[in-house]
This record gives sequence, C-alpha cells and structure tokens, in this order.
Amino acid sequence: MSKAQLIEIARKDLEHGRNDTLDLADGVYKVPIENYYDPVRWEAEKKQIFRRLPLTLAATAELREPGDYKAMEAAGVQVIITRTRSGEAKAFVNMCSHRGARLLENGRGTAHKFTCPYHAWTYSTDGDLVAIYAAEDFGDIDKSCYGLRELPLLEKAGLIWVTLDADSNLDINDFLSGYDDMLAQFGFEGWHAYHQQTVEGPNWKVAYDGYLDYYHLPILHRQTFGAEMGNRANYYSWGPHTHLGRPDTFFEEYADKPAEEWPTPALLGGVWTIFPHISIATFAGGGRSVMLSQLFPGDTPETSYTNQLFLMESLPETEEQKAEAQQQFEFLKYVVQEEDYATGIALQKNLDVGARDHLLFGRNEAGGQRFHKWVDTLLETSDEDLPKLFKTG
Ligand code: FES
Ligand SMILES: [Fe+2]
Repeated sequence: MSKAQLIEIARKDLEHGRNDTLDLADGVYKVPIENYYDPVRWEAEKKQIFRRLPLTLAATAELREPGDYKAMEAAGVQVIITRTRSGEAKAFVNMCSHRGARLLENGRGTAHKFTCPYHAWTYSTDGDLVAIYAAEDFGDIDKSCYGLRELPLLEKAGLIWVTLDADSNLDINDFLSGYDDMLAQFGFEGWHAYHQQTVEGPNWKVAYDGYLDYYHLPILHRQTFGAEMGNRANYYSWGPHTHLGRPDTFFEEYADKPAEEWPTPALLGGVWTIFPHISIATFAGGGRSVMLSQLFPGDTPETSYTNQLFLMESLPETEEQKAEAQQQFEFLKYVVQEEDYATGIALQKNLDVGARDHLLFGRNEAGGQRFHKWVDTLLETSDEDLPKLFKTG
C-alpha cells in the first residue's frame, strides 16, 4: 500500500518534471515577524508543541539490545529511553524519585539497572524502583509507587516517538496520520546509528524553515552541493508531516513498468520532515544512508540546537569507506553550520529591529506555509481538543 503511495508521488513529480511545473500554494503567505522572537510565544511553543506532541527522540538502531539506553535532553526535559529485558522500548523522565537527581548522564550506553549517583536508589530498565540504599534507616515507603515516571512511547518504522507529557491523551498513531507507513519503507529497524553530532542554530523555526525549502538550494548552497539542484519542491502531506519531492524526470524509464520494478530506495529520495522538528535528508540515489536532523529550542528564543544522527543501512567496513563517511559528516556539518545556520543567525538579528512586521512565504514555499499554520493551530488548541486535530475519518 505505502509503496503504491510512493509511486503515486513519483508519478506526480514526473508529471511536473515533464511539464516543467510545480505544486503551488494558493497565495503568498505572511508570517508576523514577532513569531520568531516573542518570548511569550516561544514559551508557548515549547509548552504547547514540544511538551505536548510526540517527538521523534531516537532511532531503534540506537538501542537495539535489552539494556541499551539513550539519555538526552528534549525541550528542557531530561529523558531516558530504555530497551527492557522483554525487548520493549520505554521512556522515563530522567529523575530519581527520592529527591529528583538525574539518574543517567546524557548519552547512550548499556546497563541492566540504573543506580542514582546521589544516594544509590536503584531502578530496573522497566523503571521499577528495585532497591533503596540503607532501607532499614530510611523508613517505610511503598516501592511500587516510586518507580520512574513513564512517558508515552511508540516504536514504529524503526523510529521512537516519545510524548514529554506523562498524562497525554493523544494517541501517537493518530498523530502520525499514516506517515509512518511511508517512513517504514526505509526499513530503519535494521539500520545502524553510525554517528551523531550537534550544531547550534538560530530560533528553531528560522532553522526549520530551511529544511522545508528547496528554493534556496542553488543560491545559498551554490559552492557546496546546490549548484546543480533545482529550486523547486513539490510538497506532500500526511497530517502535519511533510515530504519534499521535486519536479523530476528520473522515473520516466519506469513509467510503463509494474510497481515491483520501481526501485524503492530511489522512491524514497528527497526530504522527509516529521512535525514539529525532524528532517530526514536522503542522498544521491535515494535512501541507503540518511541524516536525521532533530531540532530543539535552545536557552533563548534566538537559539536552537540540532542533533544530526547518521543512519546507515550497512556500516562502512574498509578504511576507505570509513574515511568517506567521516568526510560526509564533516561536509554536512559544514553546510548546516556555515551556510544554513550562519545565514539564519544573521537573519535572526534583523527580526526584532522594527524594520518590517512580517516575512513572506511564496506560492512555491507551500511547505513553510503549512508548517506555520500548524504551529498557529497548536498554539490555539486546548489540551482537551488536541487529539481531535489528528483524528481522521
Ligand atoms: S536523589 Fe536519587 S537516591 Fe537520592
Ligand atoms: Fe539549506
């Protein structure tokens, strides 16, 4: 079914390629400029978007075996994702129930129990409190009430979504809106998490706008990879999630062939964004290695940081392949840091000087238009009404 959808997209891209056209939004869209720096709005975005919606916090490949864990900070919340003995993934607030210490330092590792660095209370990978240090002196408590605080989690398509609100009533499947069927075509559950690096950037929306934008590729990136790239994107959406294709005649040779002959890796080309903060970029020839960029608001409205996670279908084996992969990581860090984010950081300084009251998203920038509309909608939606936004049918 989902391969059929990928072929449908490829046929639309092909049609646009043949006709030299692209998908256009109805009109030019204005975004109020203060949306990018107003501290009140920025706090609301953290609360209503990052702390309420499921976030793609990890890949299955990062914690494949029982005992593997990943500890990280996401929008100010310290989180642990574990692989339990039974093989299930679980997420918890990285906080000891005794007096709140952080249990695990950020990073990945393997452990079958977690012992708090403060007074050695110990938890299982299922989050149960299994031992209290000097329990005979501590006094009576019901251990079963003091496990780690669990967060809603869904593992699908080789990715792990976690909702930072422990009391969330939003079904993560509903939120995905069927987009996970598309992502599943990559087969990420069998891939490897080869490398991670972090890049500092401007306001998270200034940064994210760039991931939804091919318009800038042949201009801003002309000296790195963009010179030969077209500036046109076609946008495909599932709920708030957006895939970027492009007018392209690549699939001409498959046009009359049956579905099974269309090569899946090539069908997965382009960029796959996951609302509100993920971009999965594929490289030449489609997806056999990808860069998953995970954006988070920083300490102020003017800052963000991006974790770049490199997922590869097979690990590089020879020294030459390893050097090649290393070169690619450095190249992509350079492109994002020195081209995209350097531009974004300088752009950010212009926003609050009172020179203009809005920014523009053209008819050719429909992905950015949709993104900002979704952000607005989420800021206007109560907790109670949140699940309705993603209910289909
Ligand atoms: S805060 Fe963790 S054992 Fe005291
Ligand atoms: Fe860019």
